[in-house]
Amino acid sequence: MPKIVNSWNEWSRLKRVIVGRADGTMVQAPEPATVRDWPEDGFPKGTYGPLPQEMEDAANEQMDNFAALLEKHNVIVDRPEVLDFSQQVSTPDWKQDSMFGVMPPRDILLTIGNEILEATMSQRSRWFEYLAYRPLLQSYFEQDPEFRWESAPKPRLTDASYVDGMDFWEYAESFSDEEQIERFTKKKQWNLTEEEPLFDAADVGRFGRDLFVQRSTATNGAGIDWLRRHYPEHRVHEVLFYEAHPMHIDATFIPLRPGLALSNRQRYPMTDEMVKLFEMNGWKIVPCAEPALSEKPPLCFCSVWLSMNTLLLDEKTIFVEESEKAQQQQFYELGFEVIPVPFWAVGPFGGGLHCATADVYREGDLEDYFPKQIPGY
Ligand code: ALA
Repeated sequence: MPKIVNSWNEWSRLKRVIVGRADGTMVQAPEPATVRDWPEDGFPKGTYGPLPQEMEDAANEQMDNFAALLEKHNVIVDRPEVLDFSQQVSTPDWKQDSMFGVMPPRDILLTIGNEILEATMSQRSRWFEYLAYRPLLQSYFEQDPEFRWESAPKPRLTDASYVDGMDFWEYAESFSDEEQIERFTKKKQWNLTEEEPLFDAADVGRFGRDLFVQRSTATNGAGIDWLRRHYPEHRVHEVLFYEAHPMHIDATFIPLRPGLALSNRQRYPMTDEMVKLFEMNGWKIVPCAEPALSEKPPLCFCSVWLSMNTLLLDEKTIFVEESEKAQQQQFYELGFEVIPVPFWAVGPFGGGLHCATADVYREGDLEDYFPKQIPGY
């Protein structure tokens, strides 16, 4: 029987990966966790619907191209199923007028060793997204006797899980980014309450025995506590960055190889212990290069910092978006072979090269890259 699932970090040789799909992705209907407001692009507040067909086709073309490129590098590529994301969904507690999509598997699937964990997610439109991955997870389960298939407790996502419901966003955005950092980020209090554990898998940075989990607009303190109890062999460190609206760590702080991490040049770490931990274990943290874009593309809820949302084939080779020349140059100078991949058309569908993928198999075992620890962190 083959071993299908194994991945402990972000840099060991990749052998199998899930690549999402752009099909049917929605500008989500408003909900407490997210309110879209893009009047200049056809989606004023309160409206929702599929992203335009020509955008979807362009994104799918880039994703298919990336999947083929991965296969050329001897990586097995699996793809999720597409659901009707325009449908209304409900639980006994709420109704939500649309789902989202299945472009970013990284948001929902967390692979640690031989386990894939389905994250709780924190948006109602994404509550049922796990269904798109179930055929794949089921087939891994049937083929790999060591695969541990896990799902975090499905959250209730009642109004009690959110601060001020949809009004929160209007209130938050009445402040400048700097003021939002003072009011929300420094207090670790954005839109989510501590009613129940909530986390997205993409808020977790995997560095072997150490997991760095970002407190964010998708991940609350209870979510980090749940992860800490779920991975007793790991050290789970909460991290926070200088950012008004944090969501997912992979355009903010990423490992490149043992001893080297890349930090967003604007969103510097706000957790002193974290920086100390890296320093005392001989890790170097370098600020990323400038992004190619000055503004994010239409209908995109991700930032221009998808420039650093990259995928490592191994600890010497990195996939980087094709137009991100400064970022590519920095990687060359850091000793990497760079493989450029056109991918900005995918941005509006939920992210870059890291978001669009979820590890299934990387070579190597669990290792300790931070033997010196700070008590209590
Ligand atoms: N949400 C992250 C960003 O856009 C990926 O910066």
